[in-house]
Amino acid sequence: MTRTKIKDILQNESVDYAVTVKGWVRSFRNNQFIALNDGSSLDNIQAVIALDTDESVLKKISNGAAISVQGTVIASQGKGQRVEIKADALEILGECAGDEYPLQLKNRPSLEFLREKAHLRFRTNTFGAIFRVRHSLAFAIHEFFHKRGFVYLHTPIITASDAEGAGEMFRVTNLSFDNPPRNEDNTIDFREDFFGRSTNLTVSGQLEAELAAMALSEVYTFGPTFRAENSNTTRHLAEFWMVEPEVAFNTLKENMDLAEDFIKYLIRFALEHNRADLEFLANRLVEEEKQKPQNERSEMGLIEKLEFVLQHDFERITYTEAIDILLQSPANKKKKFEYEISWGTDLQSEHERYLVEKHFKKPVIVTNYPKNIKSFYMREDDGCAAGKETVAAMDILAPGIGEIVGGSQREERLDKLQERMKEMHIPAEEMYWYLDTRRFGTAPHAGFGLGFERMVLFVTGMTNIRDVIPFPRTPKNADF
Ligand code: 4AD
Ligand code: MG
Repeated sequence: MTRTKIKDILQNESVDYAVTVKGWVRSFRNNQFIALNDGSSLDNIQAVIALDTDESVLKKISNGAAISVQGTVIASQGKGQRVEIKADALEILGECAGDEYPLQLKNRPSLEFLREKAHLRFRTNTFGAIFRVRHSLAFAIHEFFHKRGFVYLHTPIITASDAEGAGEMFRVTNLSFDNPPRNEDNTIDFREDFFGRSTNLTVSGQLEAELAAMALSEVYTFGPTFRAENSNTTRHLAEFWMVEPEVAFNTLKENMDLAEDFIKYLIRFALEHNRADLEFLANRLVEEEKQKPQNERSEMGLIEKLEFVLQHDFERITYTEAIDILLQSPANKKKKFEYEISWGTDLQSEHERYLVEKHFKKPVIVTNYPKNIKSFYMREDDGCAAGKETVAAMDILAPGIGEIVGGSQREERLDKLQERMKEMHIPAEEMYWYLDTRRFGTAPHAGFGLGFERMVLFVTGMTNIRDVIPFPRTPKNADF
């Protein structure tokens, strides 16, 4: 008999039909009631086995064991569930070595503990819920862009350029470390390397997406990106997934509209398709918040927060306005900020969080940052005073997260772009292909990057980015 998913049984109104279910035991009581989970939903199904089941079989039905149950779906005799399975046959597919099973603990295991058991943590309710939500969001990303006629572009993972110009790249090579080929000046001769040049893992697919946008008009990438920044924070991964739409003819304003619609679409999708998982995560958050002092607890529950974001426009302010707000803030006057605030320096995460969590209490889009703190490809704003040059950048800051999106209108004017690349020591000869788009039918265009894990953090209410990607890559950690 083919296997029926537990979710389908729980959603089906009818009873008295035969099924085979397969899954992992979540609990076993009174030698009779098995709570079985197959990952299709948060909820388990209860399988009731015969009272005369052999002792040798009973011993094997322990937490974590994989089993197959054949039986009939009936209206439940007990409380707590609508239906249950009256088992006719039970097969042990895989026993679970009880004493060694890390999820056997009496107390609920901590997230830190589970991070070290990342190969097994999928089996907990929390991580089951997180990864079902993560899946939904990934699916919704494709749906959103597909409905709008965007082309999904696969940009390369191995590249020779540094899109963000920040030099935080992982090198890709097959040269020998013991005896690499050398130039006369003793530097490594990358002409001998696999690609005949020095290459690295991409930090962003943007530059390639721009090339395609100059013909297909609307494209997006969604893939892994890699950054060798030594940031051991709850918001940074060395390997993370980024969604990068790039749209010809869009200005900064249209770029902001697209990003706001996009984020709201993803939230709405999760609320519609992952209600039970989100409710579970909301309760988890309430429990977690109880550990915090009263004044640090969030005012809204997870679902309320998501609905609130849907119902309100994102605040839109310029960098200059943001600096003014921060300078005037009671927090600044009471010297609560660690980093100094002054026009021309980048906003630190404490400043971003003040703006979204204390001042506006909703997502904020900060635009028109000083040119000197942003990437070379951003379009310089017209009519700036000398020394106060800004670019058409936009960062979206989300409550509890900080920066979730970074984007801009791009510099489409060849002369301006060349000038900027020179100032920033970006090798123009190697980037001829990028500059060619400005030579051959250049057009205004804009795009942004959404950090996928930061979005999953926001929707699930989790607080550590290591808990929303299956196998996190962080400094000194690439287990599994
Ligand atoms: O602001 P970033 O660096 O922008 C870009 O890479 C542009 N090329 C995007 C574009 O315009 N097409 O990164 C975009 C987003 C950030 O806002 C953040 O959400 C996420 O990527 N991000 C990270 N997420 C996890 N770990 C890291 N180390 C991240 N660095 C950036
Ligand atoms: Mg950024």
